[in-house]
Amino acid sequence: MPSQSPQAAAPTIEDIWKYLEEIDAEELLSSLEFPSVPKGSYSRLPLHTAPFEVTAIKWPSFAKSAIHKHDGFYGAVRVLSGTIINREYRHESDVLKEIEVTEFTTGGIVEEPDGTIHLLENPLQEASISLHVYYPAISSFEDMHLYNIEEGAIGVLASAATGASWNSEDPGHFKKIQENAFRFSGIGETDSHYISPIVPKPHKTEILASLSHYYDEQAEVYDGNDLNIRWRKEYTEGVNRIIAVELMKLDIQDYMALCCGTGRRPIEIRELTGKNFEIFGVDISENMIQESNARGLKTQIGDITSLEFDFNQNYDCITYLYAFGHLTSRKDRIEVLKKCKRHLNPGGVFFADLFCLRNVFEWGEEIQRIHAKYRLEDQGYEPGDVFYRRTAGEHRAFLHYFTREEIVSLFQEAGFEHIEIQKIGYTKRSGQLHNTSDEGMYWVKAS
Ligand SMILES: [Fe+2]
Repeated sequence: MPSQSPQAAAPTIEDIWKYLEEIDAEELLSSLEFPSVPKGSYSRLPLHTAPFEVTAIKWPSFAKSAIHKHDGFYGAVRVLSGTIINREYRHESDVLKEIEVTEFTTGGIVEEPDGTIHLLENPLQEASISLHVYYPAISSFEDMHLYNIEEGAIGVLASAATGASWNSEDPGHFKKIQENAFRFSGIGETDSHYISPIVPKPHKTEILASLSHYYDEQAEVYDGNDLNIRWRKEYTEGVNRIIAVELMKLDIQDYMALCCGTGRRPIEIRELTGKNFEIFGVDISENMIQESNARGLKTQIGDITSLEFDFNQNYDCITYLYAFGHLTSRKDRIEVLKKCKRHLNPGGVFFADLFCLRNVFEWGEEIQRIHAKYRLEDQGYEPGDVFYRRTAGEHRAFLHYFTREEIVSLFQEAGFEHIEIQKIGYTKRSGQLHNTSDEGMYWVKAS
């Protein structure tokens, strides 16, 4: 077990976090001389042990630690260069479940609380370097539990173990090995999407590039998902109907669909009105724009948040369906809303649906837990920000979840005078307007 000096007061995790935050990474990196190790192994460089252990680790390409359990020690890791992925697990009866996969790029800090079961890995071709702080200092690996996913085995290290690795030829490395101890369940195995944080929050251009790939990946199947998944069909049809009813009351010539996707929904909205107005569209995904063009929309490809992006003219209706939460910051949301307000004709109207942080059927609660756990608001996130992946996909998407107060202040700041906010059922009571505060999406009509 790790030993500690009896005189020293235990540092808090805040002390450790502050220490890591204040490190001058460049200066430290230039002074590190890692011992040479066999090819493929990571190289540990102990720096000091008081008031807590500080060790730098150099990870060669694709190297990973064993899955290990913190039993009686805690700490945090800062990525000095490169990228480190933290995979966290929960061991319940006979299942080892992967519960979180978080990517830490240069400057990101990950906490390793006591009791955590996790591994760290370098996902890059090039080396990554991380700085690890532990308390108490790890003087022995005795009794540390390691998990071997391939064999479903749990090993308990012996006092002779010199590292927390599974692949040891040394027969005295383990005290015992429990075979067939668990079944492994990977993240996202049971869900279509899962939360996938990246820390610190990447720059906007990187987020948008990733979003664009995320949608490119799905352009061909996107409409199929809307039509074949019952609640999605009911939701999108419900929203389309609500807009159509509103448009039937307007003298509408020009309609702009921001983030128009495949163009299917604006076309359906027009059909529902029985009117014949022009539909314009913008999307960041080239594949989506191709689909929209094929349906007869007048489209532009681009990032509507960029200063250069021009709305070209005014419109009688602007919609921002499903995707408003993809805007990466409050600043961009305000700018885009201001542009929308400026480009509405007198009597024109803006519609959007926004994810609700308090929807009990959605990720709101989980997002808040992850924000607190990884201190995401200290690492560039705004409250309500989330990155996620599709289980079947390769790219990460960004979404922002809203509160009612936030929506009111956004639209007011952007200059809208009439702001109507309702709730609309998403996965439950899909597409139906209601006023249950902890369910569904926000439905906003503003002018
Ligand atoms: Fe650890």
